[in-house]
Amino acid sequence: MARPEWVSLLVLWLTVQPHRSLQVQAQTEPACPDISTVRKNNWPETNIELIISQDAPGVSEVYWAPYVDTNYSIDASQYVDVTFNSTAQAIEFTALPSLDGVRDYLQKGYPTLAQLTGTCRMICGSDIGEFQFILLVQDQNTASPQFGSFPRSVNVSEVFPTGLVLPDLVIAASDADADATNYALSFAIKEDSPFSPTEPVKTSDVLPTYTTQLKLEKPLDWAKNAIYQLTVTAQDPGGKSAEITITVNVVDVDTAQP
Ligand SMILES: *[C@@H]1O[C@H](CO)[C@@H](O)[C@H](O)[C@H]1NC(C)=O
Ligand SMILES: *[C@@H]1O[C@H](CO)[C@@H](O)[C@H](O)[C@H]1NC(C)=O
Ligand SMILES: *[C@@H]1O[C@H](CO)[C@@H](O)[C@H](O)[C@H]1NC(C)=O
Repeated sequence: MARPEWVSLLVLWLTVQPHRSLQVQAQTEPACPDISTVRKNNWPETNIELIISQDAPGVSEVYWAPYVDTNYSIDASQYVDVTFNSTAQAIEFTALPSLDGVRDYLQKGYPTLAQLTGTCRMICGSDIGEFQFILLVQDQNTASPQFGSFPRSVNVSEVFPTGLVLPDLVIAASDADADATNYALSFAIKEDSPFSPTEPVKTSDVLPTYTTQLKLEKPLDWAKNAIYQLTVTAQDPGGKSAEITITVNVVDVDTAQP
């Protein structure tokens, strides 16, 4: 005589049941993983890029926690996005466009702040964990040279001696980058002229500023050329540049014999 159908159903139920209860036990609230300080050294100021991926199994959600300001760091949450990648089971930090030029002079005052700090909060079941994120930012060449305010013209006597520097004109330009490899300026004159720019002199460490002057290389002659329009360029090591026009008026001196 065949067994009634409900008997095999009962047998099946009895064998499945222990597995199900085991699974329920495994699903008890996961505690947040212990993530010590996440640190990334010398990440350049940049547009959107993945900065770091930090393994964090069991996390379901992550976000920036309220930030406590200090004198030496900037709140990373303005510059870095934090998300949980459930596929990779990792917390991912991504640079935001606001990180661009963050170390430039006047971006965040002086001295420029190279360290971003933030507190992240993780949610893992009903557990909440926190860890600190520190990002040391490397200066990128984001700032361009800018000429300062000084007279754009100068008078020079046609008998001014060669080899000397025109005393009445000091050309100044600044570059807001944080490292000399990005701000050190050099000057040039585009046109062929009797003048050459002197070696740049650094005159300010706060906003990096360099000056140059015009040195007379060849004798002047008012009758031949009474005015020079010089295009002066200032260029940083990365090739970012600016230019201005300087007018040099040659002043006639009575050189004819009576
Ligand atoms: C920041 O620096 C100033 C002056 O050095 C000091 O008085 C102040 O306590 C500092 N603040 C913090 C949060 O460290
Ligand atoms: C999440 O991680 C996986 C595996 O590493 C990766 O392929 C994917 O692009 C990531 N997703 C996002 C949104 O970053
Ligand atoms: C140059 O000389 C002219 C004429 O004497 C004068 O008007 C002008 O102010 C001078 N410019 C400078 C920059 O000294």
